[in-house]
Amino acid sequence: VILTQDDLKKIAAYKAVEYVESGMVLGLGTGSTAKHAVDRIGELLRQGKLKDIVGIPTSTKTHEQALSLGIPLSDLDAHPAIDLAIDGADEVDPFLNLVKGRGGSLLREKMVEGACKKFIVIVDESKLVNYLGGSGLAMPVEVIKFCWRFTAARLQKLFEEAGCVARLRTFGEKEKEEPYVTDNGNFIVDLYFERSIGDLKAASDAILQLAGVVEHGMFLDMATTVIVAGELGLTVKNK
Ligand code: A5P
Repeated sequence: VILTQDDLKKIAAYKAVEYVESGMVLGLGTGSTAKHAVDRIGELLRQGKLKDIVGIPTSTKTHEQALSLGIPLSDLDAHPAIDLAIDGADEVDPFLNLVKGRGGSLLREKMVEGACKKFIVIVDESKLVNYLGGSGLAMPVEVIKFCWRFTAARLQKLFEEAGCVARLRTFGEKEKEEPYVTDNGNFIVDLYFERSIGDLKAASDAILQLAGVVEHGMFLDMATTVIVAGELGLTVKNK
């Protein structure tokens, strides 16, 4: 049997849901991998195998999915302590640091996943990198709309030595291209690097010090477990 990338995502997601117990407050992730986990939680609730779950969604999209599955929902205001969150990632480094937010939901994800006792990340093996930024794909930064060009230029300048290029995230075809707007009404500036940015904590601090920045997609020291699904099976990495 040849497994597709989506099969691998599903295998990782189902494994993570084995950690869910009745009565838990659960952070519900966003993206094509997390979607499988939310589906599975809905299924187990329907079958009566899980009970008394409260879901805290990390995006309007996941909110809608969970609602349609009948998962009881709440938010961080009402549930500031979350037992477990399950979510995908765009990159995972050897120390279990992550890049997230290629799907655009980094801010709510970081708020919810930062409030969890346990944070399980689910990925297929294509997400593993030697260093963050190493996939050559975007590292997202959520910025306020006001003078986003100014903020983008400052971000690019910060990482000049890593050969950084900063681009506003857009969607739609050429003539109808529009800025992508997050659930929080902000823009996303995607950073692309030619080389490693080095010290991640220093990079994080520098980004967050820029006044136009709301949050970035590096999730440092947050994942407690990473479940990787590959051609040869599942690997569970613990912090
Ligand atoms: C959403 O903003 C992201 O952080 C996703 O969790 C991440 O991009 C992984 O998405 P996929 O599972 O779709 O690759």
